[in-house]
Amino acid sequence: MTGNVIVGQSGGPTAVINSSLAGVFKTAKDRGAKKVYGMIHGIKGLLDGEYVDLSNKIQTDIDIDLLKRTPSSFLGSCRYKLPEVEGNEATYTKIFEKLNELEIQYFFYIGGNDSMDTIKKLSDYGKSINSDIKFMGVPKTIDNDLAVTDHTPGFGSAAKYIASTMKEIIRDGLVYDYPTITIVEIMGRNAGWLTAAAALAKGEDCEGVDMIYLPEKVFDIDQFMNHVKAVSTKGRSMVIAISEGIKVADGRYVFELSDHVEFVDAFGHKQLAGSAKFLANKIGSELGIKTRAVELSTMQRCAGHMTSRTDITEAFNVGGAAVKAAFEGESGRVVVLKRISDDPYMCITETHDVHDIANIEKKVPLEWITDDDYVTDELIRYIRPLIQAELSPIMVDGLPRHLNVNM
Ligand code: F6P
Repeated sequence: MTGNVIVGQSGGPTAVINSSLAGVFKTAKDRGAKKVYGMIHGIKGLLDGEYVDLSNKIQTDIDIDLLKRTPSSFLGSCRYKLPEVEGNEATYTKIFEKLNELEIQYFFYIGGNDSMDTIKKLSDYGKSINSDIKFMGVPKTIDNDLAVTDHTPGFGSAAKYIASTMKEIIRDGLVYDYPTITIVEIMGRNAGWLTAAAALAKGEDCEGVDMIYLPEKVFDIDQFMNHVKAVSTKGRSMVIAISEGIKVADGRYVFELSDHVEFVDAFGHKQLAGSAKFLANKIGSELGIKTRAVELSTMQRCAGHMTSRTDITEAFNVGGAAVKAAFEGESGRVVVLKRISDDPYMCITETHDVHDIANIEKKVPLEWITDDDYVTDELIRYIRPLIQAELSPIMVDGLPRHLNVNM
C-alpha cells in the first residue's frame, strides 16, 4: 500500500464505538499501513487541523484491549453536516488539501445515518475530481436505525444495559404496598428499537415492564392516563418504558407539551428529553399517584461495564472489514451486518452503497408493535442474540480502566 489512513468518529457515542476504532487501527497496521491518523472531533476537527498519529496513542496489545473496553468516542465526536458542494467548494478543497498533505489514501468514518452523509459527500466529490482516496463508512449507533444492515454495533450493548437496568428498576418499583408508577425514558430518537429492548427484562425471575411506548405510533395521552388510573385503582404499581421520541397526534414530541429549552443540532435534530418527567408530573398532579421519572440518558450509551461481547466483537469486525474493503479498492460504501442464521446466531459483514444508507432512518415495523402497547415475540427474538455474552472491564483499583486520548 502506498498512502496513509485516517479515521474519525461522529455522532452520538456508544459503549463499543472504540472497538470499531480498534478494528480499523489494528487491521490497517496488520495490513501494512504506515501511518494511521485519528481526526479529533471528526470531520470538523480535520477542517480545523486537529488530528493525532494513533500509533502514539495505541502502542501495545493491552492498549487495543483497553480501547475495545473504553466507552464513548476516544477521538471525540461532532454533529457537523458537510454543506452541499455547490457554492461551498472551498470546504471540500480544504478537506482534500489536508488529506493530500497527510498523504491519506484511505478514509474511515465511524457513525450513524447522519455521519454516512459525510462519506457520501466526500466520496462523490472525490470521484468528481478523480481523487484516488477511498472513503468507507463504519456503522454505529445505539438507535439501530441504519438502513440495510441487520443491526448496528452499539445497539446490542445499549439494549443489554436497558434490559438489565429495567430488571433492577422493576425490583425497586414494585416494593411498596401502595401503587407507584415509574416511567423510564429511553433514547433512540425517532426509532423505537432501543425502547423495545425493555421487553427483554421479562423472564422467569421478573414480571417485566407493563407498557412500552415507541415513537413509531402516535402517543395518546388520554388513553395513557386512563390506563394508569385503571391499573393503580386496583392497587398495582407499574413500570413503563417510553421512547424519548414519542409524539402526540399533532406531531409534537410529548416533552414539547411542557416548557423546555430547545437545542437543535446541525442536522436539525431537537434535543429529546423530558417526556418521562412531563408524564410523571401529570400523573402526580392529576391522579395523585406517586410517580418517578427515570431518564437513562447518556448512561445507556456509555455503560462500558455492561457491554455485550457479541456487540463488541461485531464492532471490531466491521472496523476490520472496512479496512479490508478499502484496501481492496472499494469506496463510497458502508460495511453492513447480514444475519445468516438465527439459531445459532451468526452474522457476516458485507459492504453496501452509501447512497442507500446516508440520512435514512430505519424504524420498527408497525406489525412488531402490539395494540396493548407492548412488542411482539418476533421483535424480542430479533434483539435477544445481540445482547449475549459479556466482556469484563479491566479493573484497576476497583474501577474500570479506560484509554484516554488526552492522557
Ligand atoms: O446518536 C444517537 C443518540 O444517542 C440518540 O439516541 C439521541 O437522541 C442523541 O444521540 C442524543 O445526542 P446528543 O448527545 O448529541 O444530544
